[in-house]
Amino acid sequence: MGYIIGVVSQKGGVGKSTVARAIATTYAAADWNVKIGDLDINQSTSFTWLQRRLGRGVEPVVAVETFGTVGQALKIADAYDLMVLDGAPHATRATAEIGQKSHLLVLPSGLSLDDLEPTVILANTLVSEHGVPVERIAIALSRVGDSPRELEEARAYLEATPYHVLDSQIPEKTALRRAQDGGLSVVETPYKGPREQADRLIQAIIDRLESVTN
Ligand SMILES: Nc1ncnc2c1ncn2[C@@H]1O[C@H](COP(=O)(O)OP(=O)(O)O)[C@@H](O)[C@H]1O
Ligand SMILES: [Mg+2]
Repeated sequence: MGYIIGVVSQKGGVGKSTVARAIATTYAAADWNVKIGDLDINQSTSFTWLQRRLGRGVEPVVAVETFGTVGQALKIADAYDLMVLDGAPHATRATAEIGQKSHLLVLPSGLSLDDLEPTVILANTLVSEHGVPVERIAIALSRVGDSPRELEEARAYLEATPYHVLDSQIPEKTALRRAQDGGLSVVETPYKGPREQADRLIQAIIDRLESVTN
């Protein structure tokens, strides 16, 4: 059976698609057969990102498919070594279903309380109402500005919750936006500093998947 990593949030714009693409391209670079299941049918941004990627001949090739329901995506998940489910915002039922079916559930969050609080509330709901095991939830700090103090306070806030907070973070950088505009993922940008931070975050996701599935 293939692995399933879900990337979800209650809010839009926090970096779900950015993280999903970075996960997918990292595993694909290691010769895994990977598919991104884009569940945001209103925007399908990962699908259009793939079209830019294919148009520019970027390798490795990853597959992206848009699905109307989580069930449809899961039907074909076994054909892949890894399926990354790129969730839609404000999709309570689909988010719960992704949570129940994923080996690891990644919740990207910005550093503001406006981002952190809904992230923790979503995690709490997934655990208490939908039976998602606490250890399968991992919070990924994303769109991180350049204040070390803000980052430290956000990590301290999350440490007081039962959830695993992944090492490293994705910095907010124009270069990362531009990379994705050109069909690359944030771990494929030529800009070394941001790329290395993003790389470490994705490595932390890989390590966490291994530890929760062993
Ligand atoms: N680390 C980052 N630095 C700069 N821009 C980013 C970063 N992460 C995401 N963005 C931009 O923010 C927008 C929302 O990101 P996205 O990953 O699509 O979020 P979501 O899927 O949660 O809605 C996109 O335009 C994306 O290019
Ligand atoms: Mg998205």
